[in-house]
Amino acid sequence: GSIPKFAVAMPVPEVLRPVRRSWNTDYYRMTMRTVSTEIVPGHQTEVLTYDGSFPGPTIMAESGRRVVVEQTNALDTPVSVHLHGASVPTSSDGYPMNVIEPGGTRTYTYPNVQPNANLWMHDHAHMEEAEHVYRGMSSMVVLSDAAERKLGLPSGEYDVPLVIRDVDLDDNAGIVFTMDDSVNRTTILVNGKPWPYFTVEARKYRFRVLNSTNLRWLAPFLADASSYTMVGSDGGLLEAPYSTPAVVLSPGERADIVIDFSTYAPGTSVVLQNLAGTGDPAEIMRFDVVAAKTEDHSRVPAALRTLPALPTPTVQRSVVLTMDEDGRPNPMGYINGKTFDMNRIDTTVRFGDTEVWTVSNGNVTTPHNFHMHLVQYRVLERNGKPVDPSEAGLKDVVALLPGEEVKIQMTFDSYRGLYLYHCHLMDHSAMGMMAQMEIV
Ligand code: C2O
Ligand code: CU
Repeated sequence: GSIPKFAVAMPVPEVLRPVRRSWNTDYYRMTMRTVSTEIVPGHQTEVLTYDGSFPGPTIMAESGRRVVVEQTNALDTPVSVHLHGASVPTSSDGYPMNVIEPGGTRTYTYPNVQPNANLWMHDHAHMEEAEHVYRGMSSMVVLSDAAERKLGLPSGEYDVPLVIRDVDLDDNAGIVFTMDDSVNRTTILVNGKPWPYFTVEARKYRFRVLNSTNLRWLAPFLADASSYTMVGSDGGLLEAPYSTPAVVLSPGERADIVIDFSTYAPGTSVVLQNLAGTGDPAEIMRFDVVAAKTEDHSRVPAALRTLPALPTPTVQRSVVLTMDEDGRPNPMGYINGKTFDMNRIDTTVRFGDTEVWTVSNGNVTTPHNFHMHLVQYRVLERNGKPVDPSEAGLKDVVALLPGEEVKIQMTFDSYRGLYLYHCHLMDHSAMGMMAQMEIV
């Protein structure tokens, strides 16, 4: 069916309240359950959720304060909760085989020993992650710190998550999942609603944009070609703001952007489009501008943070991502020629080492990207050249178009144990494009 555009207001995901707070820890409780929700006006759609909302509620975390989440699985499928972008002990990292069975409960501990970042809670159950996340197992975790708050960026009701994804809906608005099929996922959802509108005051807003799609590239672009200001990426603030008409986000990447609507007359609208891809639906959502209620005292300072200096690396490795491209029925994904095997450790890393990995996409037509658990890395170069300012901050997902190659650098000085690295096109990781490293 055809869903009208800009007909539904965009909700802001609710902020989850802790059940208890101690001097150094916030305790939360979530129940993963199936609910019916209205995605298409007049229809009920069954979705999988963290705690009943689609997308899940936002957890506001503070650098240096622990977050402990007791997760109960009231779904009829095993799940594993991963906090994407966070450096956490392996026991709380959501290892694919370390699942919570239906009816089970498990407690995850997040130490938050890292600066501000936009983190993403999503499912990671072995070979099920693609479908689970597609059906709704996704929540944002905003990790903040005092240095960030001092900057005076737009805050409170002017600091809004934009969780963007696509979905294939049948005529009754049921969610259809077919592995590795981006073709039919043509309905764009922002915070769970199709092509919504969002009423904004004529002032600055901060949007925490998350590409939570399984396969689709996004390049949010204001239809009048106005630039916005990128202030942060996956692992938190950039060193300096970057003004651009579009930031490219592959699946799993985040962009923290400030849009200044004071340049629009109250009563006007501007559409946010997607510039990425060919034949994609061009619209994402619409901003409807109204007069500002109060004066806008927020600002975007010229310096946002200083990133730590890059230590000299002592280990070099290379990683090649490929997927069967010959049209066979059940294509597999590979890292260095191997599909995922939980009984194999692909890479052994010495605790404390700084490494440079050269990651390349060995395919001719299939895009990939590269995500590592545990660490935030720096992208040193792309195809032998310096990277775009949008990729110059701390990253945990880097895009790789066919034939592309990047060099990334990271230091393994937080935890020991078993962690994953994989393509974050979730259908691909579920097809085996995943490997594991052990930090010893
Ligand atoms: Cu977003 Cu292995 O995860
Ligand atoms: Cu891939």
